[in-house]
Amino acid sequence: KRRAEKTEVAEPPNSLPHAAPSLPTKPALYSGPFPFYRRPSELGCFSLDSQRQYHGDARALRYYSPPPTNGPGLNFDLRDGYPDRYHPRDEEVREGLDHLLRWLLEHRDQLEGGPGWLAGAVVTWRGHLTKLLITPYEQQEGWQLAASRFQGTLYLSEVETPAARAQRLARPPLLRQLMYMGYKFEQYMCADKPGGSPDPSGEVNTNVAFCSVLRSRLGSYPLLFSGEVDCMAPRAASTQPPTCYVELKTSKELHSPGQWRAFYRHKLLKWWAQSFLPGIPHVVAGFRNPEGFVRSLRTFPTMEMFEHVRNDRHGWSPSVCVNFCAAFLSFAQSTVVQDDPRLVHLFSWEPGGPVTVSVHRDAPYAFLPTWYVEAMTA
Ligand code: A3P
Ligand code: MG
Ligand code: MG
Repeated sequence: KRRAEKTEVAEPPNSLPHAAPSLPTKPALYSGPFPFYRRPSELGCFSLDSQRQYHGDARALRYYSPPPTNGPGLNFDLRDGYPDRYHPRDEEVREGLDHLLRWLLEHRDQLEGGPGWLAGAVVTWRGHLTKLLITPYEQQEGWQLAASRFQGTLYLSEVETPAARAQRLARPPLLRQLMYMGYKFEQYMCADKPGGSPDPSGEVNTNVAFCSVLRSRLGSYPLLFSGEVDCMAPRAASTQPPTCYVELKTSKELHSPGQWRAFYRHKLLKWWAQSFLPGIPHVVAGFRNPEGFVRSLRTFPTMEMFEHVRNDRHGWSPSVCVNFCAAFLSFAQSTVVQDDPRLVHLFSWEPGGPVTVSVHRDAPYAFLPTWYVEAMTA
């Protein structure tokens, strides 16, 4: 009920058109108790190969294989192989929700949750939900999410903003190399087989991905989302996904207390949001020196990340993030009323402003592919 108030607008004078509803994003508006978030469970998985081809299995899953010691001697050269052994994914290809929809199509008859569960669910990528979670604190990059309702289900698919596209096309060489280094770190830390050893001599091909498909629920909103998983720990306390999964990250080496503070305020918020959603319990960070060598590792338990900012006036709050996400889902559910795969409500947000909505039909915004709509209708 509180949520309905937030999006309510004053009755406009008779002569003016109704103001479109919008959703505010200020953190202070979302500082209630932490809402219910169902323990995420894995429904299945799929893999994308070096050609970005879909396979309905775990062939791209890698296994966590850290070096024997995290001390002197650790020396991963993250620039090694750049650019000659780098095969970056073609970012001009707009995949939308396609891979996830293919998984869903192939498993729609085996979904748990009872008949009609899917019709009440929100289907999206984990990465889109991550962006929603951090929105109240984000001051740099806006987002656009396209939403369509089809057979009851609400589908959310990100649209690259013109600013993000311009930035991507003008990405400076150093930033390109930094992106490579994040993937290179994965190669030093992962083996292809359980119990195997990493082989950093090969190519880094960012077409390859292992994706987990998860079920959860935020408040009263059932969720089905998929997220890329870096690796699984073969000897984790629990071998059951998603708790056996490990997220890998790199960061600049930190020295002063001020640098750590900034890291906790900004980077750890993103790491927390990304891993909290699928219930991945550990993030392993490699700290690189200015020459691009990782010389130390540190494990951050996802559920302890907030402790680093709990007493920080400029820190972030998990409840604010999750309450905002719930408010957005409520806003989207009540805005997208018509069931029509060709109709798109485009939710747009820029830092400092509220989330606004515009309505579109067909190209270029419609994102549910004909093959999916037809197969689901048959
Ligand atoms: P980092 O771990 O160093 O961030 P992920 O950590 O989500 O598994 O992503 C692996 C790597 O992809 C990242 O390494 C980074 O290099 C690159 N990457 C992911 N998202 C990115 C983004 N939004 N912008 C730039 N690089 C990104
Ligand atoms: Mg990853
Ligand atoms: Mg990672």
